[in-house]
Amino acid sequence: MSTRTYFLTLAFAVFFSGAVGQGINPLFIPDTLTGPTFNLTVKQSKVQFLPGDSSETYGINGDYLGPTLIMNRGDFVRMNVTNLLPDTTTMHWHGMHVAPEDDGGPHTTILPNETWSPEFEVMDEATTFWYHPHLHEKTAFQVYKGAAGMLIIRDSLESALNLPRTYGVDDFPLILQDKSFDPTNQFIYQQLNDTMMINGTLSPYLEVPAQIVRFRILNASNQRVYNVGFPPLIQVVQIGSDGGLLREPVPITRVLLSPGERAEILVNFDLPRPNNIVMAANNSEMGNGISGAPIGPGGGPGNPLDGVDFNLIEFRIGPQTANPITSIPSNLNSWTPLDPNEADVIRTKVFDTIPPASFPFLINSTPFDHHYINDTVILGDVEIWNLVNRTTEAHPFHIHDIQFFVLSINGFPPPPTLAGRKDVIMSLPGDSISFIAKFEDHFDPIIPYMYHCHNLFHEDGGMMGQFLVLESATGVEDAFADDEFSSRFQLFPNPATDKLTLTSEGLPDEQLSHVTVRDIFGKEMYQLAVTPSTSKVEMEVSKLTPGFYLLEVKSKDGRREILRFIRK
Ligand code: C2O
Ligand code: CU
Ligand code: CU
Repeated sequence: MSTRTYFLTLAFAVFFSGAVGQGINPLFIPDTLTGPTFNLTVKQSKVQFLPGDSSETYGINGDYLGPTLIMNRGDFVRMNVTNLLPDTTTMHWHGMHVAPEDDGGPHTTILPNETWSPEFEVMDEATTFWYHPHLHEKTAFQVYKGAAGMLIIRDSLESALNLPRTYGVDDFPLILQDKSFDPTNQFIYQQLNDTMMINGTLSPYLEVPAQIVRFRILNASNQRVYNVGFPPLIQVVQIGSDGGLLREPVPITRVLLSPGERAEILVNFDLPRPNNIVMAANNSEMGNGISGAPIGPGGGPGNPLDGVDFNLIEFRIGPQTANPITSIPSNLNSWTPLDPNEADVIRTKVFDTIPPASFPFLINSTPFDHHYINDTVILGDVEIWNLVNRTTEAHPFHIHDIQFFVLSINGFPPPPTLAGRKDVIMSLPGDSISFIAKFEDHFDPIIPYMYHCHNLFHEDGGMMGQFLVLESATGVEDAFADDEFSSRFQLFPNPATDKLTLTSEGLPDEQLSHVTVRDIFGKEMYQLAVTPSTSKVEMEVSKLTPGFYLLEVKSKDGRREILRFIRK
C-alpha cells in the first residue's frame, strides 16, 4: 500500500464545480535521483487518490510516476531499468540525444523481470526532458497508469545564470495529466478525461516563496492540450522550451502545451498585495481541432473539461527563502538556428488518413510497421522536414535523436517561445510547419529512431514512422564490412540449419555480455543468456524460418558488433 496519500476532503466537489479556486491537497514533489547510476524499477502499485477504494497504478520506484532524474551534461550515466510489470515495456529518454540502442524506443523491449542497462554520455544542454515507456500499442496505457517521470539536465552555462534552481524550493516540476475514475476509483482508460492531476495530486496547492520561482511544466497527458495561464498583472516569463533555454526571457500570459511538450517559466510571486494565485488551463481560448478545445473533432462531447477554463493549481504565497532570486537575467542562451541553405535533404511528412476513413491518423498514408524503415538519414546531414497537416485535428509531432529549430509556421517565422530547441511541435489543422536539424554523433545500421504524433492514442494507432541514421551513404553494407569485427568473432556453420556457434578465438579474453538474434529489419527475435566469462556461445536456430538474420554481439567492454547469418 501507498505511503503517499492523496486523500480528498468534501471540498473536492466544490473545487471542481469551479466555485472557488482553492487547492486542497499539497502538491506532491517527486524525489530526485542523481547519477551516475540510476536504478529505476517499474512496477504495479496502488494509490489512495480518492476516499474509498485505492486506485491501481504503475509507478517507477514509487506508487505513481517516477523520481525526477537529474543529470549533468558530460556525465557518463548508467540506467538500470527493471521491469516488474506483468507486461513488456521499454523506457525512452524523451528529448535526449542518445544512440538508437540507448533510446528506449519500441525495438528495445524489457521483458517482465528483466533489467535493461544502457550506458551513455549526457550530450544535451540544460533543459527539462522526461522519460516514459514506448512499447508500440501500449505507450498510452502504460503512461496513463503512471509510468513516467521528469528528467532535468544541468550544465555550466545554465548554472552560471542567476536563475532559481533549488529543486522543491524555488524550482518545481509540474506534470500535468488528466484522469477519469470509475465508481470503484479505478482509472478509466480513455482519450479525454475529466479530472486534473499534477504530479499525481488531485486539486493541488503549493506554498511558494514571495520571489521569482521557476516551474518546469510538462504535458504528460495522453491527448489533452493545456493553454496554461495566470491571472492578469502577474509577471510570467518563459525561459525554456523542450531542448534548452530561450535566448532571452519572453513575457507571456499563456503557454500552450501539447502532449510531450515542456516549458520552463518564471513567475514573480513578490507581489505588493500577496494573494493566492491560480494557474489555470484557459482552454476555452483554444482553436478548433485541438484536443480539449471548445469545438471540433479533438474535443470530447460532454467531457466537462473540454472547451472550458479550469484551475490547475493554487499557489499560496509564503515567506521568502534566504537568498531569493529577485531579478530575471536578460540573456539566457545563445544559439543560431541552422541555415536552411545548408540543408542536404528535404523531407515532407503529411498527416492524413486513408479515405474514406477518418481514423487512424497516419503519416504519409503509411501505418507504423516495425519491419519497415520509413527514412534513412546520413550521419552529419542537415535536414529540413516539412510537416503538412491535412486532417481536421491538431497533432503534436515529435522526433527522437535530435532537437530541431522551427523555420516557419505557415510561411511566418515562429514566435519567440517556439524559436528555441524543440522536440515536439503542435501542428494545427491545415498547418505547414518546417523545421531544420542536424543528425550528429549517433548511428546504427539496425536500430531505428522514431518520429510520431505525441497524442499517444494517435501514436499507438500507427501515426509513427522510423528512421535509421547510417554512418555513410553506402549504408548497411558498409556497416557490415567492418574488418575489425571479422577478426574478433567467428560464426559457423554459416549457413546453419540447427546449431550455430559463435566464438571469439582470435581474442581468448573476449567476454560477451549479450548476444541477440534479430531479423533483417532489426527486430529482436530473442536474446541469449551469456555468463560474464563466456567467449563461446552455441545457438539453436532450427526454429527460425529460413532466411537472413542479424546477430548482435556485445562484449563486456561495451563494444558491439553485427554479424549476419543465414538459416538454411
Ligand atoms: Cu515521448 Cu517517442 O516519445
Ligand atoms: Cu521521444
Ligand atoms: Cu495526432
